[in-house]
Amino acid sequence: MKISYKTLAGKVTKTDLLVVLSAKGKKPKLPKDVTISEKVLSSFGGKTREARFTDAIDGPAERVLMIGLGEGKEVDPETVRRAAAIAVKKAEKTDAESVTFWVDSLDEKQAGVLGQALTEGAVMGAYQLNDFKSDPKKISLKKVVIQASADFKKGAKRGEITGGGNVFARRLQDTPANKMRPRDMVAEARKIAKGSSKVSVKILDEKEMEKLGMGSLLSVSRGSSEPAYLIHLTYKPAKKAKRKICFVGKGLTFDSGGISIKPSARMDEMKYDMSGGAAVLGAFHALAALDPDVEVHGLVPTSENMVDASAVKPGDIVTASNGMTIEVLNTDAEGRLILADALAYADKTIKPDAMIDLATLTGAVVVALGHELTGVMGNDEPLIQALVDSGKTTSEAVWPLPIIDFHKQDMKGAVGDLKNIGGAGTGAGSSTAGAFLSNFVGKTPWAHLDIAGTAWGATDRDYQGGSWGTGVGVRLLLDYAEKQ
Ligand code: BES
Ligand code: ZN
Ligand code: ZN
Repeated sequence: MKISYKTLAGKVTKTDLLVVLSAKGKKPKLPKDVTISEKVLSSFGGKTREARFTDAIDGPAERVLMIGLGEGKEVDPETVRRAAAIAVKKAEKTDAESVTFWVDSLDEKQAGVLGQALTEGAVMGAYQLNDFKSDPKKISLKKVVIQASADFKKGAKRGEITGGGNVFARRLQDTPANKMRPRDMVAEARKIAKGSSKVSVKILDEKEMEKLGMGSLLSVSRGSSEPAYLIHLTYKPAKKAKRKICFVGKGLTFDSGGISIKPSARMDEMKYDMSGGAAVLGAFHALAALDPDVEVHGLVPTSENMVDASAVKPGDIVTASNGMTIEVLNTDAEGRLILADALAYADKTIKPDAMIDLATLTGAVVVALGHELTGVMGNDEPLIQALVDSGKTTSEAVWPLPIIDFHKQDMKGAVGDLKNIGGAGTGAGSSTAGAFLSNFVGKTPWAHLDIAGTAWGATDRDYQGGSWGTGVGVRLLLDYAEKQ
């Protein structure tokens, strides 16, 4: 899908479908030379998500689609995002090859954010995974034109990039685990770095990780025939940045639970256990084009968690790169084991001003917050607040959860320094997981996002949802990075 941008003063070029968004009680504003039935035009209600097709009587557009934005003095970005997604989905259903969004006086004060929301919705709404069908559906929609004010267009160009990062992550997420192995995550990271002079990549293999003493991370891949990697991406802006931030994403390309094996029902969903890693790669996919004034590092520890004679066993003790020993009491609590060494590496080698990890870490967060809210915790209130704020801006909602001293005490080991699960009866599984991670961040300001509920299986929002991956985290991280 190729997107191009035009001013409202420019002529509308020939298009299969002209889309206009219109608030309740307002008559949809069409370009001068496009005419539709006056009856249809004046009868359009403009309720949220209301969609009405009509043939054009005259002008460059074959058909016109009006989409409602509901009432309210201010149009909000989420409604526009959804409206744009509805439009591209409807266009695809009717085999339209070209769509023009005609955006005349929506709300000029918010033009930038609404523009960004519109293209995000269009790009994300058009996403589909067609790679594994022997006879894939032909995608009809090839050309999208956005005709709007200068400020709206500026925002829209950003939305094309942020939406692009989101669908990049979703493709990695939705790809089955035998086609998206740790080595495939590495290949995707290399491709991103190849595509931009501002992004570089370093891959640490098992040998190098062994040298660095990453016994916690390496204990997870022992049961798999696929080797683990630590991906390290770096984005450096054109002019020297004042701040350095680091994103860390859990990249478990499949989590069987290991010897503490998971039940068979819905185990297939554990291909999504790399969603944190996908979010980091998706953000890097977009970073170079957005060009924020901050140095960004991205770490993705990536591995499979499988069952094998050499797999780590319940009760085994492993040593992390910060010297701490960990009793692996449950091999299914593996995400925190790979994150431990990645966080310690960031703290020791990268030394960022702030770091944020994203992980499908606990089933408990789904119980606590469901599928619409990401849990956030950490050691730095302003950082947590910044992520809550970015959650509001992007509609990737983030909700704080506590880590108190009790949770930290609960993760202390009997044989080793730490154990990888909380005590029987403690509950608060997301907080104890966070408390475990807090041992590896040193003094670095740090926030942990538990995306186990939001990475897939969220309700349908037109531009994402259902049983598919959501790409959650990409737009959130980009919003955070841009505000630095
Ligand atoms: N990847 C899972 C967490 C998960 C579970 C994500 C369900 C999404 C849906 C993680 O590795 C895990 O298995 N965590 C365990 C921890 C427990 C053993 C302390 C869990 O949440 O059950
Ligand atoms: Zn697990
Ligand atoms: Zn896992």
